[in-house]
This record gives sequence, C-alpha cells and structure tokens, in this order.
Amino acid sequence: MNTSKTRPAAVGPNLYLVGFMGTGKSTVGRVLAKRLSMRFLDSDHEIEAAQGRKVPEIFADKGEAHFRSLERAFVESGHPEKGCVVACGGGLVMQEGMIEALRTRGIVACLFASAETILKRTSANKNRPLLNVEDPARRIRDLLAQREPTYLRSGACIYTDKRPMSDVVDHLERFYRREARVFRRR
Ligand code: S3P
Repeated sequence: MNTSKTRPAAVGPNLYLVGFMGTGKSTVGRVLAKRLSMRFLDSDHEIEAAQGRKVPEIFADKGEAHFRSLERAFVESGHPEKGCVVACGGGLVMQEGMIEALRTRGIVACLFASAETILKRTSANKNRPLLNVEDPARRIRDLLAQREPTYLRSGACIYTDKRPMSDVVDHLERFYRREARVFRRR
C-alpha cells in the first residue's frame, strides 16, 4: 500500500542557475539548496573533479572548445536528473541547444549584474581564463553585450545589483516552489 507514510518524499526538478561570471550563482545556489533540501552542484567543480584538473588548466591545455564539450557532456549525462540546484558556468548556455537541454531537465533562472559589479566580484579571483586579460573591464562589457540576448531568453531573470543576497534567495525560493508544481504536471 502506498500511503503518505510509506511514500518517499517527492524529489523536485533540478533548478539551473545560469548567468555571467560573478553574478552570484554559486553563492546563491548553495544557500538555496540548503533551504530547499536539495543537493548543490557547480558545473565547473563537477568538470574539474571528473578531469582531475582546474578549469584554467583545461583551457590552457585543450582549449575553450574542449571545455565547452565537457560542459555539454555534464548537462547531457553528467549529473542527477532531479533534486539538484546547479550553478552553471557562465558560458554554458551559449552553446546551441543548451537552454533547451536545461529546460527539458528542470527549471532555469538567470542571474544578472552590471559590468561594474561583475568586475568587483571577479577581480580577486584568477580562476577565470576568459578574464585573465589586460583589460578585464572591457572584456566583461564585450562578453556581456554578446551574451545578453541568450541570457535574457534562458529563463526567469533576476537582478542582483544592490540587493542583499537573502533577497535574491527568497525570490528564487518562491519562484522555484511555484514552477516546480507546474513542472511536475508537464
Ligand atoms: C566561463 C565561466 C566560468 C567557467 C569558465 C568559463 C564563461 O564559470 O565556466 O571560466 O565562459 O563565462 P563561472 O560563471 O562560475 O565563473
């Protein structure tokens, strides 16, 4: 008999956090996962663990295209189907078909921040090969302009500038709970 006592707790669809580097996907994702009793994954960390080396080394040795193929493999077959909050590397949704691939697997929300905020949040950390250039501010502006249309159509858009992280988490928690009910009925 499948009573509510014997039935296992429903495991919700994955929540994918996408958006540019430095928009807070990992910080927000970790807190959110705890709140929702879900597992937290970071696509970069999963790829690093599987490859046994850091993202900058992968870029340096095998190039960006290879890294993108690892991101695709992570999405298509490298992570659980349910129950995870996944912080996705900033370029992951730029590949053809990736937004659709994420949407079939779960709910997608995109974090935004201004170029100035991104520069502040990323300048202390040298683990981002695309920003290890002479003029990171300019690179951020150029990449943002190039990527913005894709981010805007990827999922629900959440602005993080001048907003406490707890606000962003609260908002995403409400969004996820509402969307998860709809997703289960699909
Ligand atoms: C990248 C973002 C990084 C990482 C890699 C490339 C990008 O992840 O995947 O350096 O192309 O925007 P974060 O967004 O977690 O920094």
